[in-house]
Amino acid sequence: MPVRTMLLLCFAPFVIGALQGCGGDDGGGDTSGGSPLGECPPDSAAQADTGYQALQTQCAPCHLSSSEGASRIGAPEDVNVDDAASVRAEAAEILAEIRIGGANGGDGMPIGSKLSDDTIEAIRVYLACDAAQ
Ligand code: HEC
Repeated sequence: MPVRTMLLLCFAPFVIGALQGCGGDDGGGDTSGGSPLGECPPDSAAQADTGYQALQTQCAPCHLSSSEGASRIGAPEDVNVDDAASVRAEAAEILAEIRIGGANGGDGMPIGSKLSDDTIEAIRVYLACDAAQ
């Protein structure tokens, strides 16, 4: 098989929205696409909106595209919760970070605290339903 064809096959999962690495084996063809973000539940628009709002408030000012310099407190320039392309690119990372949390010296996000389970789930739903589409 030509190398180019192999590369295409290898990266096809990314094109269809799966955020797993090359060679992942749980692509189910459902709404989650085998993504680490999980499924988008039906009728979850309100929950997704709650998740969106939580990201805007809980991750500000460090992760807003309008924040520059000291107000970012060292947050990477390419992680901005108000920038759809950034959220899409970082969706799996965002979910992983908030699941770890930053309470009790944890190295997840937000720094110094952990979001409630409900808020984490709302953000997951927002990422799975809206951001990652
Ligand atoms: C007080 C400022 C602050 C807040 C609030 C904050 N972050 Fe961060 N974030 C940082 C800094 C500083 C870094 C870089 C250092 C690190 O990764 O710990 C970072 C890194 C990240 C990264 C990249 C991690 C990596 O390893 O590449 C993600 C994703 C992220 N934050 C998501 C979030 C999300 C989602 C929230 C809100 C729930 C949030 N952060 C809240 C300051 C913050």
